[in-house]
Amino acid sequence: MDKFVIEGGHKLRGTVRVSGAKNAALPLFAATILIPEPITFLNVPDVADIRTMAQLLRDLGAKVHRIEKGVWRIDTSTISETVAPYDVVKRMRASIYVLGPLIVRFGKARVSLPGGCAFGPRPVDFHIRGLKLMQADIKVEHGYIVAQAERLRSASIAFDKKSVGATAHLMMAASLADGKVTIENAALEPEVVTLAEFLKLAGAKISGEGTDELVIEGVDALKSPGEFEVIPDRIEAGTYAVAAYMTGGEVTITDLCIEHLRTVLEKLREAGSEFEMDKNSRSLSILPRNSEIKPLDIFTSPFPGFPTDMQAQFMAMLAIADGTSVIREGIYPDRFKHAFELTRLGADIKVDDGIAVVKGVKELTGAPVMASDLRASAALVLAGLVARGTTVVDRIYHLDRGYEDFELKLAALGAHIKRVS
Ligand code: EPZ
Repeated sequence: MDKFVIEGGHKLRGTVRVSGAKNAALPLFAATILIPEPITFLNVPDVADIRTMAQLLRDLGAKVHRIEKGVWRIDTSTISETVAPYDVVKRMRASIYVLGPLIVRFGKARVSLPGGCAFGPRPVDFHIRGLKLMQADIKVEHGYIVAQAERLRSASIAFDKKSVGATAHLMMAASLADGKVTIENAALEPEVVTLAEFLKLAGAKISGEGTDELVIEGVDALKSPGEFEVIPDRIEAGTYAVAAYMTGGEVTITDLCIEHLRTVLEKLREAGSEFEMDKNSRSLSILPRNSEIKPLDIFTSPFPGFPTDMQAQFMAMLAIADGTSVIREGIYPDRFKHAFELTRLGADIKVDDGIAVVKGVKELTGAPVMASDLRASAALVLAGLVARGTTVVDRIYHLDRGYEDFELKLAALGAHIKRVS
């Protein structure tokens, strides 16, 4: 099992390029099931979750090839299977995205129910209810979602709370339904908007993407748009911005989309960070820190609010702020496992009922810690960058799911970090 060994106390300097967004590429890969023609994706990140989704599509019978770094070619015309087995789904809950497309394409599907994860239950009831409203016949047995439908039909779906996955999944399925599907209280995340753009290039009739109400007029078939570029990863970009500011360094982050980071940058500015953005908002330069990090109040909420996927990284930064911060998790109240690992590095954090109170300390000191989920791992690495002495972060496989070349990109910025097996 790989670990990172980090020697803290080195400011980050230089330039880092943001990779494509894992959370945009995963639904895009699943959407190819709707289009039985070759499609090439550009700017795909080389991360474990992408390889898992690629393997799932291959197991279904699709031809999936990594042409070169960032370039994948998928042809689902050869798919013959309609089962997504437990051993794949338990590794990556985004596997659920293949359920709707398989029902639409083949009239039936069996997809294992995803388990929970480190930060609590991750139900898929919105996904199932939406498909049922579109007249799919669905039952859950022996840990599998067993679905069948002649054809999905018109429906009006309303979520009681915003769900990225359910919005993306049901929008895909509705693209080939017979009639009109409306989704109220839809998610506004850029990863959902770019999926809508892809489906529209393929001939889908979708309106309202990026607003609370999505309207999808089903069509009879979709055609390959040829190739499609994955948007930059806003969470990876935010992670490097926090790392730069925490270490007091000077880092330029390129190939990002500033529009997707407004709330994160607003919070970083509130913490005292100064940065420059170039005119066409493709790069961001974090300037050297010349004062203490200011404490913050953070409340995570759906896009365009402060993203839950940046909460752990900000907690690592606030652990050494000059004052007390309060972090409320509005999405996953249990997403605080990293807090207990950070206290091993000397942080002063109290967690209770979805709220973390972070009292800034003068310095952190290195220690062995354990990652529990993708963003918690990143937070522990960031803390290791500023902790005095050596920090060893174990269970790095969590981090490899969603960060491409993380230790290489950090080392190129001057961090003393290396991977040991
Ligand atoms: C996506 O997960 C992301 N994953 C997560 O990022 C991210 O944390 C999350 O959105 C929130 O932004 C991918 O895109 C692959 P949700 P998803 O459905 O779609 C509840 C990372 O770090 N809910 O928006 O699973 C749910 O429990 C990962 O890259 C239901 O109750 O999240 C949560 O409280 C971690 N029933 C809320 O909705 C459902 O059927 C939002 O979840 C679905 C969701």
